[in-house]
Order: sequence, then structure tokens, then C-alpha cells
Amino acid sequence: MTATEVPLPDLEASELRLLIGGERVDAAAGERLEVLNPATGEVLVEVPAAGAADVDAAVAAAREALPVWLSMAPARRAELLWDLGTRLAELSEEFASLEALDNGKTRGEALMVDLPLSSEIFRYYAGWATKIEGSTIPTASGLAQHVYTRREPVGVVGAIIPWNFPLLMCAYKAGPSLAAGNTIVIKPAEQTPLSALRLADVVQEVGFPPGVVNVVTGDGPSAGAPLAAHPGVDKITFTGETGTGQKILEASKANLKRVSLELGGKSPNIVFADADLDAAVEGTYGAVYFNQGQCCIAGARVYVHEDVHDVFVEKLLAKLTAIRLGSGLSADTDMGPLVSSEQAARVTGYIDSALAEGATEIAGGGRARLEDELSGGYFVRPALLTDVTPEMRVMREEIFGPVGMVSRFSDEEAVIAAANDTQFGLAAGLWTADVKRAHRVAAELHAGTVWINTYGFFDVAVPYGGFQMSGYGKELGREALDPYLQTKSVWTDLS
Ligand code: NAI
Ligand code: MG
Repeated sequence: MTATEVPLPDLEASELRLLIGGERVDAAAGERLEVLNPATGEVLVEVPAAGAADVDAAVAAAREALPVWLSMAPARRAELLWDLGTRLAELSEEFASLEALDNGKTRGEALMVDLPLSSEIFRYYAGWATKIEGSTIPTASGLAQHVYTRREPVGVVGAIIPWNFPLLMCAYKAGPSLAAGNTIVIKPAEQTPLSALRLADVVQEVGFPPGVVNVVTGDGPSAGAPLAAHPGVDKITFTGETGTGQKILEASKANLKRVSLELGGKSPNIVFADADLDAAVEGTYGAVYFNQGQCCIAGARVYVHEDVHDVFVEKLLAKLTAIRLGSGLSADTDMGPLVSSEQAARVTGYIDSALAEGATEIAGGGRARLEDELSGGYFVRPALLTDVTPEMRVMREEIFGPVGMVSRFSDEEAVIAAANDTQFGLAAGLWTADVKRAHRVAAELHAGTVWINTYGFFDVAVPYGGFQMSGYGKELGREALDPYLQTKSVWTDLS
């Protein structure tokens, strides 16, 4: 441990077992899952690897808890959600270390984004628990009928979580689910189960009734797939790869589950000639390289106006060459490792494919070979590619790593067409001093979120989610409650 490295979180302090119906249990079949430290490649700890029997038990517990949860006063449900958010805020330092250890992200980034937003989400949706309202509807035909609507929970929610924001994605799914009156089974990603298991401790500590929140750790085929196919699950909420989302949709057919999908993207980030260039460079750095580029919103297709292209690239390059790779737990680290050896191989594979197709790598160089004890980690140097063309794989497929692609443009209409030349539609960014241009272009971009003169901001009150193949079902804000509710119309004869 270097001087600036913080102490490792005490893994013994957490139960690190499944949470099913208020009990901490091992997987029924006794299977275990190794949790690796991505900065070293070493095994940190083992956790239960749930299978179909454990998923059955968790779904049964969630079903049993539904009437308990629903009969509880909304104000009491609100209080529990609020307490959960408050406790997470109190435990921020510990959770940030846990995320750094398990995912590889830097503690600084976890403390800036993952932790505050997670606790805010629970507190924001605590407010909504007492505001789930229907309406009174005068019939259009003028019938002598009194009609009102009730907004009822869908029932048992299965939440399948990715590894890039392990705790935060639990909050995205659990906050609105629970506020709407549902119970939930959370299945964290197999690469990063630790913060969800620690969250399970906190759920128990603040006093949620047994079975309202269940956590089953395990991999996609053994734990995710049975949850997605389970006849006792009413809704699946998922964030991850498009292909996995399609499998989940397929599995939902049997009982026509409700499904929300957040499937990543290939987001454009456009820098016009009149932009504040330093701000654009800073913002683009975050857009492409935050969280080692393992962000669904990564704005990695960077289009820069020809008048400022060379200066922009020079400034971005200067930033990249100063990046210090290292353990996410060290205060000296700007960028941690990727989450897994598979992800590092996948990302360097994308860089290789671009080079084979004629791109030029002006920064980067594949897997970083560090000279110290971190050499077993999954480090990839931040890469910047130029001479890219629209048909290259790196311009069409989600890379999910620290790789930016810079293209030159001269014309507004053409750059909008290039930006929209994608099957995805999660996010987009644009940089300009011209307010008319800013809103004209924002309206033209096919994306669920557009950032003007900034990139990557999130707020618990602002809806977020994709267009096209980035999925459907908004998260955050008031709109995020809708996918977890169903409307019942109640008629009373007044004639
Ligand atoms: P993935 O989509 O396979 O994994 C996400 C979650 O789905 C994990 O909890 C996993 O266990 C579960 N899962 C996997 N197969 C399943 C199945 N058949 N049924 C139910 N659940 C299943 O993503 P993976 O393989 O970890 O990463 C591959 C790529 O996916 C990344 O390189 C990235 O491009 C994309 N991805 C996008 C994310 C986003 O935020 N949009 C997050 C994670 C990955
Ligand atoms: Mg997968």
C-alpha cells in the first residue's frame, strides 16, 4: 500500500451472502463465485453463486412480502427509503472503497457520482411513495358514470444489474420500484457483487420487512436467465448489453412480463468552431474516459469542426498523456483498470480492429504493462483514434472502454447526419457559443439525452433513457415510476 492508498474495506464486516426473505443464506447448491480485484487480478473473496432454486426462493419471498409492503402506510415506506438513502450517505467512504476494489473505478469518481446519486435516488423516491395518485376522469360520452383511476404496483420486480455502476444501478431500479409499492429481487453482475451485498446489510439494518428487497448474486446464465424467465416475476428492469436485453425480452414472453431495457449506446459529441475549446476538451475527456470509458452514455464519437480540429486534438492529447493509471483505491490514480480481463481484451480488440481498418492511434497502446505490483491488473491506456470512417466497427458498436474516435467536419447538416448514423440513441453532446444553433441541433439529434456545453450530468429528477436500440423505459425522475405502475380504471354507475 502506498502512502496515498486508503485502507481496504473490511470485507469481513459484510455478510456477503444472499438475502432471501430477510435471511442471509448460501446458494442452495453450495456453488461459489470468485470476486477478483481488477487492479491485480487476484481473488478478493468468494460469494454465493445462485442458481434457479435460489431465484425461485427469492421470487417466492418477494411475492409473499407484497401484501405486507402494500399494506404498510406509504409514509412508513417513505421513511424506510429515506433511511436507506441517509445510511448510504453516511457509509459513502466505505462504499466508495468497495466499488474501487471490486469494479476498479477510482474512489474519487465513486464519491463524486456513484455514492451521492445512489443516496439521493432513495431519498427522492421516498418523496414519491406518498404521491402515487390516480385521477378522476369525466367520460367523453357524458355517461352517468363516475370513473377514477388507481395507480397500482406491477408486483414482483426482477432487477438485472451491470458491473459499470454496481451500487448506483441497484438504486436506479430499487428506488422507483419500492416507492411504487413493488417488491424486488436484485441480481448484481457477477463481476461486481460486493456493493449489492453490502446494500443488503443496510436494507436489513434500516428495517425493511423481510422479502421486500432480495439480493441474489450469480452469473447471467445461472441466475439472470431464470429470473428473466420466472413466471412469478411481473417485471424485469435491465441495464447491459443489447444482445442480453434481447434474450431477456425473449424470456419475458411466456408470462408477458413488463420489461425496461437500458442498452447502452454509441453517442456522438460535436464540437463546433465557436465552442469554448478548453471547456469542450475538458467535457470531452469526461464524455469519453470517465469510469475508464465503461459508460453507456460514453460520447466517444467526437466530431470536431475543421477550423479547431488540430488545436482540439492537441489539447486532448496533452490531457491523455498526463493520465496516471493505477489502483482505484489510490489518491494518485486518474484512471483505474477495466472491470475484467475479458473487458480489457474486448477493448484492445476494438482498437486493433480499427487499426487494421486504417485508423491512426495517436494516443494509447493497448494493455498497459505497469512496472509494479499492479501488473496483473486489467489496465488499458486511454486511446485516441483519428482517420476513422463511419463504417468501422469502433464507430458502430459499443466499445465500453477508454477509446475516443475523432472525426473532422465542416457542415452542420452533414455532422447531424453523421451523428444520427447509428442504431443507438442514448445520448449526445454538442459544444457551441451560438444558442440558436445549440437548440436547433439538439432537436435534430436522435437521443434520449442531449447535453449542450457539458456532458454526462445526471440529476435524480431528470428522466434518462434511450431512443432506438438503446432501449426503452425511462429511469430517474417522475417518469421512472411509470414502468413500475399499472393503471386500473374503476367505474361506478350514477344513473
Ligand atoms: P451483460 O449485458 O451480459 O451483463 C449485464 C447483466 O446481465 C449481468 O448481471 C449479467 O449477469 C446479466 N446477464 C447476462 N446474460 C443474461 C441472460 N441470458 N439472462 C439474464 N441476465 C443475463 O454485459 P457484459 O457481458 O457484462 O458486458 C458486455 C458488453 O455489454 C460491454 O462491453 C458493454 O458494451 C455492454 N454493457 C453495457 C452496459 C450499459 O450500461 N449499457 C453495462 C454493462 C455492459
Ligand atoms: Mg454478457
